[in-house]
Parts: sequence; structure tokens; C-alpha cells
Amino acid sequence: MTHDQAMGAPALDRCPLMPTYPPPQIMFVRGEGTWLWDREGTRYLDFLSGLAVTGLGHAHPAVADALAEQARTLLHVSNLYGTEPGWEVARTLDRLLGGGGQVFFANSGAEANECALKLARRFGGRGRHVVVSAFGSFHGRTLATLHATGQPAKHEAFQPLPEGFRHVAWNDLAALEAAIDPSVAAVLLEPVQGEGGVNPATTEYFQGVRRLCDERGVLFMVDEVQTGLGRTGRWFGHQHFDVVPDVVTMAKALGNGVPIGACWAKAEVAGVFEPGDHATTFGGQPLAAAAARAVLAVMEAEDVPARATAAGARLSEGLRAIPGVSSVRGPGLLIGAELHHHHAPTVVAAALDDGLIVNAVRPTTIRLAPQLLVSDEEIDEALAILARAMKATAP
Ligand SMILES: Cc1ncc(COP(=O)(O)O)c(C=O)c1O
Repeated sequence: MTHDQAMGAPALDRCPLMPTYPPPQIMFVRGEGTWLWDREGTRYLDFLSGLAVTGLGHAHPAVADALAEQARTLLHVSNLYGTEPGWEVARTLDRLLGGGGQVFFANSGAEANECALKLARRFGGRGRHVVVSAFGSFHGRTLATLHATGQPAKHEAFQPLPEGFRHVAWNDLAALEAAIDPSVAAVLLEPVQGEGGVNPATTEYFQGVRRLCDERGVLFMVDEVQTGLGRTGRWFGHQHFDVVPDVVTMAKALGNGVPIGACWAKAEVAGVFEPGDHATTFGGQPLAAAAARAVLAVMEAEDVPARATAAGARLSEGLRAIPGVSSVRGPGLLIGAELHHHHAPTVVAAALDDGLIVNAVRPTTIRLAPQLLVSDEEIDEALAILARAMKATAP
């Protein structure tokens, strides 16, 4: 019997949670940097970062201190009033996005996208409300963001979904052009489809989309919930393509694990909202915003886009050298390793048994998204574990 069991920690076979996820195999109790510990004391190398969330690693001291300090100072007053952390975070995000915009804070990626979808409808007006997104995309699990998500199999159980969504082939400008009729208010795309299998957009596609949206008077909205804040080697994924979107959403890495999302829009677009059009009780509240303020300060001081570029190059090169890996794709530290003949979930399970956390985004694709401050030694250790897992699970 472990210490935790002796102290009355809950048994994993009596799960108190709804069955929306498979029953958990591991219960984590502590994290530090790239490492996690379960309640038996086993140590794991975390190359998934809570699904691309803990960009600065677990228990980053600057974020922990900011949270403790803010908790002792001011936790919540509602958005009827201003608070300093939120204003500062909004200004920093606007600067990192090139300036000239305004921010709405939310509590998650789906909520940040909900804001963008409502903004598109307000911008388009009645009769011009359709949002076009790509097959293979992922934009969230609320009813509207689920319909924006271009994965029809995920829609079926929840029909009827809100009207006004259309999907087109990924990286196919002609398909997008054909889909934009006078009912379309906006196009919503990820720079790299993360959940869909780590599929990067091409520069020609994103530049073509920008041109098309300008010609048709349609908003170009970019979902940076997974790609934002340094992960791809730029502050935002779309910055690889030298385009400026009208709307950018983000979440995951912004709070390093504290729930906060944001929807940024050019001021002339944001200005179509009037007081009362959209709201949230918690969005941008001082505790979450204080975490985001500390996250952004560390990210800028550490130049995380440069760190992600260098670490991503080392990790990708190492993955290419593992027998059974057919190709490696994705910018910075959002990486998909494509497998020749292996079954990705089987490899992932073997890696977990050996102390490495990664996940399978497709039957033949493993996603790796370690924290942006990951060390070379940790990368080499993860590569060694993955190579062993590949060897052990060879078909
Ligand atoms: C690109 C993208 N958009 C939106 C979401 C939804 O974010 P959340 O789970 O915080 O609602 C995700 C989550 O994985 C995502 O990857």
C-alpha cells in the first residue's frame, strides 16, 4: 500500500467523473519543469504539456509567485470594473500581434472562439453569418465551436448543431474560394491543425486566404489556441506566413495551466461589438490575468519562440533517425511523427510504461509538444525512450 492509499486517496477504479474521457490510468500529484510524478512516486518526462498548455513547464516559480501574490491581493471584482493585470495582458498581447487591436478575455479556447464567432456574426449582419472552416480542424466542444470543427463524425451525436458553418478541404485555396458566397462573414483556420494530426498550413495558402478575404470583404480569423505564444517558433503561428489576420484567438499556453483564453481583433472589427453584446463573469479576472502577465514576462525574457525553434530542430532531427518513423512535420515544438507501420496508440502506451508522455493524434501519428524551456538532455532522453518503445512494439 502506498502512502497516498494509506492516507485515503481515492481509488482509480471508482471514477467520480463523467465518462467523457477513458478512465485515467495514472493520477499525477506533482510537476516540476518537464517532469511529472504520480502518486506512487514514479517520474515521467512530459512531452505533451497538458495538451500544449504548460509552455513554461510545470510549477514555474514566477507563475506560482504571481498567483500567490494576486490571491492575497484581489481575486475577483467582475468585468463591470477594471483590474490592472487584465489591462496589462491585453496590451502585451496586442503588441505581440503587431498592435492596433483590442482583446476580449475568456476562460478557454472554445470560449475564445465563441467570441470570434459572435464577432463574425455582428460584423456580417443578418443574412451574412456563415463561417467557413477546414476539414480536419478543431475549434472546441461547445455547440457552435463543435460545428466549426471540421470533423463530421464528432457532430453526429449532437445534431442539430447551430446553423451557419461550412467546411472546405485543408490547404485548398480553390475550395475556399468556391465556398465564399454572399452569406459568408468569416473564414476560421488554424496555422497548424493540432488535434487533426499536426498538419501545417502552407505559406501560399495563408497568403491566398488573406487576399481572398480582402477581395470579398470577409474576416480572416485565425485559431491560435494551440499554436499561439511561442510554440511554433514565432509568437503566433500565422506570423510564419507574413499575414495579419483580422481576429486571433488563443488560450492554452496563456495561463501555463491557469484557465484563460483571449480573442484579439483589429480595433475596427472589435468596434462592431457594443456593451451587452458579449460577456463573461470570470474572463480576464485578476487571478488568471496575473498568471498570464507572469507567463508573458517570462516568455519574453526567455525568448521562447527562439527556444522552441532550436529545441524543435533537435527533437525533429532525433525523431527522423528512429527506425519506423517515416516523416516528421510541424514547426517549433508542435511536432507530428508519422509512423510507417506501427500503431501509434500502442507506441504511446509503451512509451508511457517507460516514463514518457506523448499522445497519438491519428492511428499512425504521434504528437510531441514539450514545454518550450525543455533542455537538450531531456530531448535526448525522450528520444531514447521513444526509440525503445518503437522497437518493442514493431509490428
Ligand atoms: C486549435 C484549438 N482550438 C480550440 C480548442 C479548444 O480549446 P479548449 O479545450 O480550451 O476549449 C483547442 C483544444 O485543443 C484547439 O487545439
